[in-house]
Amino acid sequence: MHSSTIFQICFLLQLVLIALPASTAQRCHPEDQKALLQIKKDLNNPSALSSWQTTTDCCRHWKGVSCDRAKTHRVNSLSLRDIGMNSHPLPMPASVSALPYLTILGFGPANFTGPIPSSILNLKRLQTLQITSTLLSGTIPEFLSQITTLTDLDLSFNQLSGEIPASLSRLSHLESLNLGFNKLSGPIPDIFNSFPNFTFLWLSSNQLSGKIPKSMGNINVTYLYLDNNKLEGDASMLFGSQKDTWTINLANNKRLAFDLGKVEFSYELQILDLSHNEIYGNIPEGLAAVRDLVSLDVSYNNLCGKIPSGLSSVASASAFAHNKCLCGSPLPNCSRRRSLF
Ligand SMILES: *[C@@H]1O[C@H](CO)[C@@H](O)[C@H](O)[C@H]1NC(C)=O
Ligand SMILES: *[C@@H]1O[C@H](CO)[C@@H](O)[C@H](O)[C@H]1NC(C)=O
Ligand SMILES: *[C@@H]1O[C@H](CO)[C@@H](O)[C@H](O)[C@H]1NC(C)=O
Ligand SMILES: *[C@@H]1O[C@H](CO)[C@@H](O)[C@H](O)[C@H]1NC(C)=O
Repeated sequence: MHSSTIFQICFLLQLVLIALPASTAQRCHPEDQKALLQIKKDLNNPSALSSWQTTTDCCRHWKGVSCDRAKTHRVNSLSLRDIGMNSHPLPMPASVSALPYLTILGFGPANFTGPIPSSILNLKRLQTLQITSTLLSGTIPEFLSQITTLTDLDLSFNQLSGEIPASLSRLSHLESLNLGFNKLSGPIPDIFNSFPNFTFLWLSSNQLSGKIPKSMGNINVTYLYLDNNKLEGDASMLFGSQKDTWTINLANNKRLAFDLGKVEFSYELQILDLSHNEIYGNIPEGLAAVRDLVSLDVSYNNLCGKIPSGLSSVASASAFAHNKCLCGSPLPNCSRRRSLF
């Protein structure tokens, strides 16, 4: 045999040896492929999933699918956005339960109807569950509290109703809870001592009522959204100079009432919206000392007294309007009579 031919054969052999382990390592596990094809079928073969073909590796070529390439070589993430089901609304596919290695499951926007399926209880490794912008209805199921691996629960922009289950306190690894834009009602459960690593809470635009639970004063979150609910009473426990909060939005609860003059602010605060409540007292000088504040709205409250100088560069007059007797730039000057208060 000619030596260059031998060389060529050796070279080809080498290529095969290099390529082989890589391709087997990344090949879709047959059980995962089967489960994904069932999901595709349950969704009536939407055109958005046209890349889901048995001729290609689901780990590399299927839209919204990824695999743990280092260890298990199983599908660990399924994220289906804008599925665009061209038929009438469908239930959320229960077949996701046949993907036991999932750590991330994301659905929506999608026209899913009915309840959140209990089949997701089979996902014993799930850390992120995001089901947003669907027509799913019913209550937030109690069984979610059994998925104790969850760190990130996002059920925003659905049609969920009823109360927030107190059993969510069992999710001790929770870092982020987003239940905004649903139809949740009743009081917020007193569960916030349960989440040592909590950084994000978004409960905006529901019908939550009653008092803010005490344990919410112990959380040190970066983002706190409680706006557009029916909460009442004290909210001063949410503040504190020792906290690392960037955003606090309590707007449009109508009946939150506490003395703002006694509140200390996080030095990290960037956005503060307290508008449309019954908050009283004055605006403390400390707020003007918050360096990064870029957005402020305290309009439609019962505040009084001189606006600390410095805040006029952060917000315009409308952000201070409709209070009891606020004065000073950007509102008209305090008269001598008013400045006595
Ligand atoms: C949901 O259904 C409506 C009406 O049929 C349609 O216009 C919309 O695109 C659908 N949304 C998604 C995300 O499939
Ligand atoms: C909180 O985060 C730390 C650091 O990431 C981690 O070691 C710890 O296990 C977490 N605690 C909980 C209850 O998740
Ligand atoms: C809040 O968290 C920050 C950063 O994680 C930390 O420095 C601060 O001490 C915490 N404050 C409180 C009141 O727990
Ligand atoms: C308002 O007060 C500032 C300084 O406190 C003063 O310079 C200004 O003339 C006052 N304006 C009116 C309309 O009284």
